[in-house]
Amino acid sequence: MGELSTRRLRTDEQGDFFDVFAAAFLDDSLEAAREVCSSTFRAELAHGVFDGDELIGCAGRFDQEITVPGPAQCPLAAVTAVGVKPGHRRRGVLTALMRAQLDALHDGGVPVAALYASEAGIYGRFGYGLASFESHLAVPRGAAFLSTVDVDGRPVREVGRERAVEVVRARYPAVAETRTGWLSRSDGSWEARVLDWPNAHGGHSAPRFAVHPDGYAIYRPKRKWTARGPAHELHVAELVAATPQAYAALWRYLLDVDLVSEVHWRKAALDEPVLGMLANPRAADRRVVDGLWVRLINLDRALMARRYSAPADVVLDVTDRFCPWNQGRWRLRTDAAGSAATVTRTEETGHLSLDVTDLAAAYLGGSTLAGLARSGRVVEHEPGALVTASRAFATDCAPHCQEGF
Ligand SMILES: CC(C)(COP(=O)(O)OP(=O)(O)OC[C@H]1O[C@@H](n2cnc3c(N)ncnc32)[C@H](O)[C@@H]1OP(=O)(O)O)[C@@H](O)C(=O)NCCC(=O)NCCS
Repeated sequence: MGELSTRRLRTDEQGDFFDVFAAAFLDDSLEAAREVCSSTFRAELAHGVFDGDELIGCAGRFDQEITVPGPAQCPLAAVTAVGVKPGHRRRGVLTALMRAQLDALHDGGVPVAALYASEAGIYGRFGYGLASFESHLAVPRGAAFLSTVDVDGRPVREVGRERAVEVVRARYPAVAETRTGWLSRSDGSWEARVLDWPNAHGGHSAPRFAVHPDGYAIYRPKRKWTARGPAHELHVAELVAATPQAYAALWRYLLDVDLVSEVHWRKAALDEPVLGMLANPRAADRRVVDGLWVRLINLDRALMARRYSAPADVVLDVTDRFCPWNQGRWRLRTDAAGSAATVTRTEETGHLSLDVTDLAAAYLGGSTLAGLARSGRVVEHEPGALVTASRAFATDCAPHCQEGF
């Protein structure tokens, strides 16, 4: 083994970046999708670790915006393509990549990073906290709604990909700006969003597009013929609705497609409204898993980017082993309405002590500080401070991100 070195990749190293990515994820389809992915993944935003001349590990990112509680838009490093070649693991390569990436993002003033973890035990040590949950939903075909559900009567129509791309690109941003956890999209990420990756279907057919005047659904059928009849599945990739009525219309449409036994959505929100619309609440099968892992990189900027739900004036004593510039006591003071906050360093005694991962877990409203305290992860030193801070950080809706990256 040669000497290990870490640096930013160059544009002309895009091919090597893909080789590492495909090798690390044991995924040939990434190789096949290289050309299309090139518009999305930019080597020059990635860091690489080299063993001599050989690239053996990489960590990439997209520069996007995420909707944070408010709603407000916050610059985001959407971290992706983190992998180390088999044969080079457990020698500190990931640690070197995280060090280089977080240092660069700190220098660049980026408030927040987020990622999806392939395995939930990896990222806590780098200060990422579990900030949102997602539901794997399965709803049987024909499941009835409560009679009180208001379904927009205007028709849902299937449209071809070309027309759909126009529609979804026009409708997505206004809704995304109101939903905590949803991301802004570049041309490249749109291409990847509606992309038909060769070999990557897992038995699903190409995406289909169901369009309503106030929303749309993108889904892939998975065909299944059984001795007892057709039992196809519809797999929702994305469902966007500007009104509750359009949301109900899109779900009604998907639930009534012939030949189908179940509608699946692996990235539904924890509090997905369809759960409250079903006449038989047991009809839906739901499994909850971790969603976005968030890293507060520049803690004060991150906390000032969001809005709060109640007035608060609290001193947070934060531990951050991997990014020591965040370590220490911070005073968070909201305005009288409890909306905008200022966050400044202070020498005052901490009212609450917590790790940066726990602050990240509460950042989008996915966990409450009071709940984290019950798990022994937040400690109150000033009576009343926990309730005050917990109410300020809490949100009305569960954070949700329906986009994989
Ligand atoms: C996960 C992966 C990137 C780790 O890379 P690595 O270079 O072996 O990691 P490091 O040697 O820097 O390990 C750092 C620490 O994380 C731990 N760790 C690494 N992978 C882990 C995992 N999958 N689960 C739990 N802990 C893990 C190590 O034990 C080490 O712990 P320590 O600091 O207590 O010694 C690599 O195994 C990989 O490429 N896996 C397949 C692709 C993948 O899952 N990528 C992540 C996408 S989100």
